[in-house]
Amino acid sequence: MEFSHLPVMPLETMSALNIKVGGQYIDGTVGGGGHARIILDRIGPSGRLLGVDQDRDAISYLEEVLKPAVSTLTLYHGNYSRLDEIQVELGWGAVDGILLDLGVSSYQLEESKRGFSFLRDEILDMRMDHSSGEPASVLVNHLPEKELADLIFRYGEERNSRRIARNIVRAREKKPIMTSLRLAEEVRRSFPRSGRRSRINPATRTFQALRLAVNRELDHLEKFLILAPKLIKVGGRLVVISFHSLEDRLVKRALVKPKQAREGEACLISLYKKPIRPTAEEIAGNPRARSAKLRVGQRV
Ligand SMILES: C[S@@+](CC[C@H](N)C(=O)[O-])C[C@H]1O[C@@H](n2cnc3c(N)ncnc32)[C@H](O)[C@@H]1O
Repeated sequence: MEFSHLPVMPLETMSALNIKVGGQYIDGTVGGGGHARIILDRIGPSGRLLGVDQDRDAISYLEEVLKPAVSTLTLYHGNYSRLDEIQVELGWGAVDGILLDLGVSSYQLEESKRGFSFLRDEILDMRMDHSSGEPASVLVNHLPEKELADLIFRYGEERNSRRIARNIVRAREKKPIMTSLRLAEEVRRSFPRSGRRSRINPATRTFQALRLAVNRELDHLEKFLILAPKLIKVGGRLVVISFHSLEDRLVKRALVKPKQAREGEACLISLYKKPIRPTAEEIAGNPRARSAKLRVGQRV
């Protein structure tokens, strides 16, 4: 398994989390452990890090390569939207900081063979957590045309959604669409010839939409953001790195302006008006960083 994952905005993330030696942190999307390794380094032997991921492969990998050497790391297979229950189950109280780095990992995209990538011929599954939900092929082959178009429009912000949905329905009537490459080809054919040569692959937005829907990514984020203030100590931080405008909007809405904070009410105040973006240099070395936006909330 190749899990190495270049963490996005590593230095910005650490300073946003305001990492303290001996502090207790949660990485709710631990993935390949890119950010986690840096956090572990900085908290030192007296700190504690809980790494959560809904992908069993990520947890198994870190259990094998990282955990044996680091006694300060606890790993948990689960969804970050259940962090309140997970904290109780593990006997953890409120922490100094929580990090979410949303979206797919390099492993999921390039190695998992679950059909996340439109460049590989794989079974169209797209579930990050194999133990729950339905694979993308179920949506693609069974959703009514209008619902499919709405899904692609809403989650993919894809203007060509109706034509794509119509084409998918026509294609699946001949033979169910079971692989990523076949779906990518049907999507590509829904574009006028000029659109097929654009800088981004025509299937990008449709694949993103299906992935978000299959994993109910916005629902989980929304549920977590309601819980978040109670999971963090006063003065502690929430850092969320998002890659989609709908996700960023949810995070922005959950962080309040300092003057809106009400006495005695647990909430997260927004530390910066604008999200932090990666430098051009980082984007050149890590294209995944291109659309990243980092927001920071401080518990009051
Ligand atoms: C972009 S990767 C994180 C990479 C990690 N920060 C690193 O530096 O290696 C996102 C990870 O979050 C996980 N994930 C996404 N949504 C999740 C959720 N609701 N609960 C738990 N894990 C989730 C995915 O399975 C994936 O492994």
